[in-house]
Amino acid sequence: MPIVRCLPDSCSIEMSESDTILDALVAEEIPHTHVCGGNAYCSTCRVMILEGNQHCSPPTSVEKALAKKLDFPVHIRLACQTRISGDVSIRRLVLNDEDIDIVDSQMSVGFIGRQRSVGILSARIRGTTNFDEANFPYDIIYVMSRYFHRMDKVIGEYGGVINNYTGWRLMALFGTEDDDRVPERSVWAGLEMLKALQELNSDLSKLSYNPLNLSIGVHYGTAIILPVSCSAGMQRITALGRAIEVVGRVESANRKLGSELLVSNSIYKRLPQPPVIHRHGEIDVTKKGTKYPVFEVIQMVGDPPEKPEKTTEQNTPLGQRIAAFMQKFGRSR
Ligand code: FES
Repeated sequence: MPIVRCLPDSCSIEMSESDTILDALVAEEIPHTHVCGGNAYCSTCRVMILEGNQHCSPPTSVEKALAKKLDFPVHIRLACQTRISGDVSIRRLVLNDEDIDIVDSQMSVGFIGRQRSVGILSARIRGTTNFDEANFPYDIIYVMSRYFHRMDKVIGEYGGVINNYTGWRLMALFGTEDDDRVPERSVWAGLEMLKALQELNSDLSKLSYNPLNLSIGVHYGTAIILPVSCSAGMQRITALGRAIEVVGRVESANRKLGSELLVSNSIYKRLPQPPVIHRHGEIDVTKKGTKYPVFEVIQMVGDPPEKPEKTTEQNTPLGQRIAAFMQKFGRSR
């Protein structure tokens, strides 16, 4: 009979070829998490195959669907769906409540983290020196909540998501799902943000507020996208990688060039039609002083991409499904 060697428990279990790995672990009284009871809904039974992948049964259709949704690599398998025909070594991955919380967060967002080419937009309000000192807190709250609300709306309309706010800055990501025309969406969003700011400034001037100025940088590059859970059950994503540093430099170059919206060469060369450019410049992107072209875009050519449709599955977050299962099965392992 094939043997499954199991970490971190350091045990070896002989198991029948007709049993799943989950069956074998449970029979040995190993407290392996299986929140949905083996129905390929929750992914909490996930294991990493360390050796013997060739002895594992092919993924079932339900495992395939969940693995696709969560972007599992081939060596991460659901114990409740996997049978073995030869010796296999595994590492159990969901061992405690913290792990379950992380899986819950991944299920809500719909992936475990992935490397992906994304559009990255960094926007900063310019001329904020003394802004908070020269205004009453109520005024700052009034102005900034309207600013963030309008920018969030524009970014959402082009399929982006704001993943970071720091002081006067925000960062948005485009293409974290499988949206098409990601570079275009990112630049259209930047231009629409400038337009939305003009409208906001016109409203603010009627109330005797000073206008806001915006500096936007847009870049396209590879980043690791990671779901993170926050307090109060909120789910967010964050992005890591060199591309995030580059977009910051693109945005900062506005100050030197006197521009409002700069795009990196990486975005520019991916646009289907050359946009209307006002000026261009260069930024340093390495310590060796390698120069990288940036372009001030003042108008896009052609029609804007349609707002991406959310799938029914996206509208009904997987988190809701796992929550139902958590209620049904509790957190018993
Ligand atoms: S127990 Fe395997 S997916 Fe839930």
